[in-house]
Amino acid sequence: MRVLVGGGTGFVGRALTQLLRSRGHEVTHVSRQGGKDRISWEELSYSGLPLCDAVVNLAGENVLNPFRRWGDAFCREVISSRVETTKTLAKAIADAEQPPRAWVLVTGVGYYRPSLTAEYTEDSPGGDFDFFSRLVSSWEAAALIPGSPARGVVVRSGVVLGRGGGAISQMLWPFRLGLGGPLGSGLQPFPWIHIRDLAGIVCHALESECLQGILNGVSPSSPATSNGTFAQELAAALGRPALLPVPAWAVQAVFGAERAIMLLEGQRVVPKHTLESGYHFIFPDLSGALRDIVA
Ligand SMILES: NC(=O)c1ccc[n+]([C@@H]2O[C@H](COP(=O)([O-])OP(=O)(O)OC[C@H]3O[C@@H](n4cnc5c(N)ncnc54)[C@H](OP(=O)(O)O)[C@@H]3O)[C@@H](O)[C@H]2O)c1
Repeated sequence: MRVLVGGGTGFVGRALTQLLRSRGHEVTHVSRQGGKDRISWEELSYSGLPLCDAVVNLAGENVLNPFRRWGDAFCREVISSRVETTKTLAKAIADAEQPPRAWVLVTGVGYYRPSLTAEYTEDSPGGDFDFFSRLVSSWEAAALIPGSPARGVVVRSGVVLGRGGGAISQMLWPFRLGLGGPLGSGLQPFPWIHIRDLAGIVCHALESECLQGILNGVSPSSPATSNGTFAQELAAALGRPALLPVPAWAVQAVFGAERAIMLLEGQRVVPKHTLESGYHFIFPDLSGALRDIVA
């Protein structure tokens, strides 16, 4: 299969590319940077979709970049890097003489309203109550191609845990020093997935000829994981204590109050359709996932 991946040079994209190539698929990235096996977004807009069997979009400015102040300019970049790249790919698919068979978009569980108690499946409502939920709604709406023969799959991902990037890369050094701990109360749900499973779900979506619709990209044990449990398990995997809670005000001071919601609140998300679709998780449990990552 020839697969075109927007934002495929990033943290998730590298894992997906490795998996797809190991399974004999050809991968081309759509990127802002030139290089081997890459095309630019401009080239895609002017020349149209290169011949391919499937398209994936993973492009997006890193929302939790602690070096970027949370303000209007950054918010616009967070939105446009997702919605405009998705629109560009959707238009290229719609205009293609030979459209691809599959079109997969990775969005986020920020679609569902944070709650200590509610559990959400792919059928649950959401998408219209705060910045992140509305972002996911417009991102997913941008992917719609009425009448297209391409199967559409949206994977709503939780926090991606893996080596060499993502949320855990910023947490490792305080935890290694024994200075880690839960964020805020620590009671908030922590929807997580191992990076090999997120890449695995996207690959499963590409290869399963009848699969379409929404898939929650979280581990099956994720609904039972709180931020406090995560902190304890990460510390245990590193053989360190996790005694020092990080107060909510400190998280808000670093990230801004609106963005801190991503860390101080969370959703219990169940991968119902993902499991029903026949995907088998490599890392269903947090302790095994973290041991793999910090080993
Ligand atoms: N990591 C997580 O925990 C997580 C959780 C939920 C959802 N997601 C979503 O999954 C997708 C992949 O995540 P990731 O962690 O792999 O992301 P990432 O590494 O931060 O970025 C992915 C790629 O997006 C492209 N990109 C970044 N800023 C851009 C901009 N301003 N305009 C256009 N392209 C831009 C870059 O590719 P080039 O430099 O090649 O252009 C980058 O390599 C993202 O859409 C993210 O929102 C991630």
